Formats: sequence, structure tokens, C-alpha cells
Amino acid sequence: MDFGSGKSYLTFALYHYLRIEKGLDIRVTGLDLKKEVIEECQQIADDLQYDQLEFLVGDINDYNEETSVDMVVTLHACDVATDMALARAVKWGAKVILSVPCCQHELNTQLNSPSLDLMLQHGLVKERFAALATDSIRAELLKLVGYEAKLLEFIEIENTPKNILIRAYFTGKKPTSEEQSKYREFVNFLHAKPFLENELKGYLETF
Ligand SMILES: C[S@@+](CC[C@H](N)C(=O)[O-])C[C@H]1O[C@@H](n2cnc3c(N)ncnc32)[C@H](O)[C@@H]1O
Repeated sequence: MDFGSGKSYLTFALYHYLRIEKGLDIRVTGLDLKKEVIEECQQIADDLQYDQLEFLVGDINDYNEETSVDMVVTLHACDVATDMALARAVKWGAKVILSVPCCQHELNTQLNSPSLDLMLQHGLVKERFAALATDSIRAELLKLVGYEAKLLEFIEIENTPKNILIRAYFTGKKPTSEEQSKYREFVNFLHAKPFLENELKGYLETF
């Protein structure tokens, strides 16, 4: 599943690599809000006779058509659209998540930590800090629900400054109480109320 697939370069490349080159028996779906772009992508898939590749118009938050998905990818899905995708992946029990976030606004508006005022007084620094803290929170939340999660540079910064990849594999490993309290300490310190934490509330309590 490619959430927020847009013009779908990644979706086509993934399908081509996994199904055509590697010969894996997979289906790929690209989902996006933009009807015209999705129709165009479906036409290209039909022309190429990529019969296990489909494109759907829809909102990640409302997407309920699959009961289980092995891998969820996102490339620059705007703001909390990345979190919606991560939450959906966890709820499906996806084995692999590869997610490159985009712009980040949520934490930027919540950040309130006087010890950080020296940094946060500068809009530019605040914006970058909020983005990095958000990705750290995302990776940590994935760890707390059984994923091994790492933040990596997937491409050189000259190509795009939005070059952090959240790579997560499901292992089922339970978090330690120290990991849980470190997470809580961090979000409390920032006054953060992460969308993803709210989405995963039930999983965090029972995992
Ligand atoms: C910056 S574009 C990236 C498109 C593509 N992944 C790429 O890298 O070329 C972000 C895409 O996410 C889509 N998007 C944003 N919020 C969404 C949501 N809630 N549900 C589905 N798609 C969403 C937008 O319509 C847009 O096409």
C-alpha cells in the first residue's frame, strides 16, 4: 500500500521491481485524495497491463478496504497524513513500514518548553526541531507497539531536505517500562500531544 501516492513514481517503481523484476506474487495499491491524478495513474497501469496494480481515490483516514497489508509505504505524505498511514499500518499488523515524512506542522504549534526557548525563538530552528522531534516520536511509538524502528537518510540531502526515512519491521518485541517512561518524559517535556499516539492509544495500552 502506497499512501498519498500522488503521481505515483514510487508506486510504479515498487510494482515493477517486486512483481516484474523479482517475480513476487504481490498486489500494490496507491491511494490519494486527488481524483484526476489517480485516474491518470490507473490509465498508465492499464496501458502497461500492470493488472495487480490499482489506484484508488480516498482519504487515508477513511480507508478500510483491506483487512491486512504486508507493507505500507509513504513518500512525502503531508503533515499528519504520514501519521494516519503509520497508524493504519500498525492496525493492519503490517510487517514492514517504509515512510518518508513531509512537512510537519502539528508539533510546531504545540511546542512549549521554556528550556528550549533559546532555540525555539528562531522560526527556522523551531520548524526543523519540530520535524526532527516528530520523527523521533513516530519511531518511538512504533517501537512501543512492537516494531524495530530506525530513522535513516534514504537519499543525499542535495536531492531533498526531506530525506529521512522511517524504516520499521514488526518483531512483536514488548517495550520495557523504561522505554515507556522515556517516551512519556519526552512528550511531556515538549508539551506534545501527538496525533499518532492518540491513534494508537488502544495498542499502546494493551501491547
Ligand atoms: C507531496 S505529495 C507526494 C506524492 C508522492 N508520494 C510523491 O512522492 O511523488 C503528497 C500527496 O499526499 C496526498 N495526501 C495528503 N493527505 C492525504 C490523505 N489524508 N489521504 C490521501 N492522500 C493524501 C496529497 O494529495 C498528495 O498527492
